[in-house]
Amino acid sequence: MSVLTAAAPGAPVVELDLAELRRDPYPAYAELRRSAPLAWVPSVGRHLLTRYEDIVRAEKLPEVFSSREEGSLLLRTVGRNMLREDDPEHRRLRAAAESPTRPRQVRDLWAASFERTAYRLLDRIASRGEADLIADFAEPLAAANLALVLGLRNATADDIAEWSRAMMAANGNYADDPDIWRRAERVTRAIEDAVAEAAEAVRREPDGSVISSMVHAAEPVELAEIQNNVKVIIGGGVNEPRDVFGVGAWALLRRPPALEKVLKDPASWKRVFEETARWISPIGMYPRQLTQDYEIAGVTLPAGSRVALVIASGNRDESVFDRADDFDPDRPHRPHLAFGGGPHFCMGAWVARHEVSAVAWPLVFSRLKGLRLDDSADDRLDGWVFRGLTSLHVTWQAP
Ligand code: HEM
Repeated sequence: MSVLTAAAPGAPVVELDLAELRRDPYPAYAELRRSAPLAWVPSVGRHLLTRYEDIVRAEKLPEVFSSREEGSLLLRTVGRNMLREDDPEHRRLRAAAESPTRPRQVRDLWAASFERTAYRLLDRIASRGEADLIADFAEPLAAANLALVLGLRNATADDIAEWSRAMMAANGNYADDPDIWRRAERVTRAIEDAVAEAAEAVRREPDGSVISSMVHAAEPVELAEIQNNVKVIIGGGVNEPRDVFGVGAWALLRRPPALEKVLKDPASWKRVFEETARWISPIGMYPRQLTQDYEIAGVTLPAGSRVALVIASGNRDESVFDRADDFDPDRPHRPHLAFGGGPHFCMGAWVARHEVSAVAWPLVFSRLKGLRLDDSADDRLDGWVFRGLTSLHVTWQAP
């Protein structure tokens, strides 16, 4: 079926400025939810679906809202992979990869190493009394943890972070910048070599990692499929935990009473995690393509239509979350959409939850005494497809 790259008949057309969306997408989302919950946005080349209930409905119908979007930049960058497949292909790849990321495996196999890495990174900066917690702590922590869970012992945290940046740049290369493609090709080859080497090693000696799990899967998985899926995971598994860490720490440092409450009740870091991911979702939207005509939010979308499920908007839907724009870890529990839904629900959710809420935040806030934001720094939120802090400059009393 061919992809339709224009508005569906009867769909409202809304012009949105991408630079403004990057700066702060939430006012535009509120307006869309109110007046055009399914709208064709020319600058994005897709229909944006922005209300919570409609997104949940779409996620329950993966046979209609297909993940196999034609011509996607992700496919061009990494090749076919689980994120852009439908069942049964998706199920085969996901089943092969996922067991190392389940809660029990996270606790038994990875948690102690996550903690050691976090200690080591904090040891490096503790005596300085100041740091950018994104560049100096959260990014290298997420990258090292990902290398471990994937089974890439032959890659450093710096390699993973650099590979992740190159993959992300290519996935968002709507301007077709040849330098970005060249860098992605170079990095793609480096990842493929590292995965081939790791796969060979675990063939003889399984190690519980994602690569090991795929090599020994019940339904066979080819090396090229393992390589492509590792590329996808590297592309997405660094920035999202990093961004939840940064945004949550920043939100609490700007709200001393809320921070004090959390520090008195360490069990509440879990709630801080879910609220941070809801409030500023690290992934703001992702694409789907209609396999058949389907009516949603008052518009009949023809087969082939492109839709973006704007989970960042669903997570601010006032009909589901009271005072949705406020950051409030004590709000009544309602499931948020930050990890997606349906068959593609994030495979790394438990890895991310553990590394941020059980390791990174508790350690940073207990070890760096008198932690505060450096008000002279220009730390900004940026992005709408992916959103997080560009940096997080802080100071503390050096020992
Ligand atoms: C706070 C951190 C994270 C957030 C908010 C997040 C969010 C998401 C979302 C929204 C999706 C669904 C996308 C779609 O349906 O098109 C997804 C899928 C996925 N995520 Fe995450 N992610 C996070 C961390 C991670 C980590 C650390 C890993 C790896 C260890 C990971 C691996 C994956 C994989 C493999 C998929 C594809 C699953 C499938 O297609 O079945 N994620 N994630």
